[in-house]
Amino acid sequence: MRTQVAIIGGGPAGLLLSQLLLKRGIDTVVLERRTKDYVLARIRAGVLETGFAGLMREAGVGARMDKEGIKHDGARIAHPQGQFRIDFKKLTGDHVIVYGQSEVTRDLYDAREAAGGETLFECAGVTPRDLDGEQPFLTFLHGGKMNRLDADFIIGCDGFHGPSRQAIPEAARREFEKTYPFGWLGILSETPPIDDELIYAGSERGFALCSMRHEKLSRYYIQCPLSDSPEDWDDDDFWAELKRRLPEEVAETLVTGPSVEKSIAPLRSFVCEPMRWGRLFLCGDAAHIVPPTGAKGLNTAASDVHYMYHALVRHYEDGDSAGLDQYSAQALARIWKTQRFSWWMTNMLHRFPDQSEFDLRVQQAELAFLEENEAARRALAESYVGLPY
Ligand code: APR
Ligand code: PHB
Repeated sequence: MRTQVAIIGGGPAGLLLSQLLLKRGIDTVVLERRTKDYVLARIRAGVLETGFAGLMREAGVGARMDKEGIKHDGARIAHPQGQFRIDFKKLTGDHVIVYGQSEVTRDLYDAREAAGGETLFECAGVTPRDLDGEQPFLTFLHGGKMNRLDADFIIGCDGFHGPSRQAIPEAARREFEKTYPFGWLGILSETPPIDDELIYAGSERGFALCSMRHEKLSRYYIQCPLSDSPEDWDDDDFWAELKRRLPEEVAETLVTGPSVEKSIAPLRSFVCEPMRWGRLFLCGDAAHIVPPTGAKGLNTAASDVHYMYHALVRHYEDGDSAGLDQYSAQALARIWKTQRFSWWMTNMLHRFPDQSEFDLRVQQAELAFLEENEAARRALAESYVGLPY
């Protein structure tokens, strides 16, 4: 087979890029290892920067997001001494949209099918080849047969565990990583959200987050030891612990119910440099991971897609490769700023096992400064709603 842009990975990054390119008449083929249902069943986050929402609209996939997504003009931060609000609207003139990642992925698949875009599911052993030549290609098993897909460019949107990053020679890549000594135990419950905005809580017993998908579906997280497993926490334990971590007047309004999903995610910060090797380019989790405290995972994948899309359009429409040559540096510059924000939010709102009394005082001062200083709240708000592309 032959295409212009071969995309490895049918997650949000791969699908959004393929849809944007399709709208510009640039041909793509998406190779996905799993089935479509498996990809859609993944429960992930759901806070979209306006930049992301703009890309969805440009790709012609914004209708359901705009209809069912919830516009949030602010979020709350709770701590042992009380709580305060970050007014995104007043501080930045901007907002975020609460709309689940699985809904985003569903809309992108529907659009791709409607447009007749080619996606091959259950591809095994996808291997990028000849990346530093003029004609890179992918080999893979599909339908029990070995296949070859030739392309001008290979885009690795295959997540953290995919083959693309590994295709960059070890000597040519640098990996930066920080792991955190705790995880997030998350549940989904068919209960009304505790508040009409998200609540990020940094309590003595550790972090907690109150989020939502819509008025009848809530998403809650609590910081937990990495050694825990979801089976260690029955629903009552979860609700009781969540209540202990929220301000009393908030906790008493919590509507509890059976969890429909329960999982533990480790927290990690990770960046791979460069994000290009010859005619291979990395987008999204294939190149970087953030702890979820800043709600930046999906949004950073989108900013990569923004730069990659414009670089490919410049190449195919203007014969100009400057965008491709600048891609890695441009994407990384924004990625490191979101890495900093996600790391900062994680440090400010979680309790660390080896935390000293001094560390604790600094955390408390950080929250007090944020509560009383408008410039500090504006800095948080600007990162949260999304830094410019
Ligand atoms: N061959 C083909 N597809 C693969 C392979 C492979 N060898 N390995 C992985 N994939 C597919 C996965 O099955 C997945 O569907 O690549 C896709 C990668 O999608 P994501 O992991 O969702 O990554 P990305 O599209 O970059 O989206 C980033 O996802 O994990 C969240 O927090 C993260 O929100 C962020 C978003
Ligand atoms: C979520 O709704 O799942 C969510 C929201 C905000 C975060 C992380 C996760 O920071």
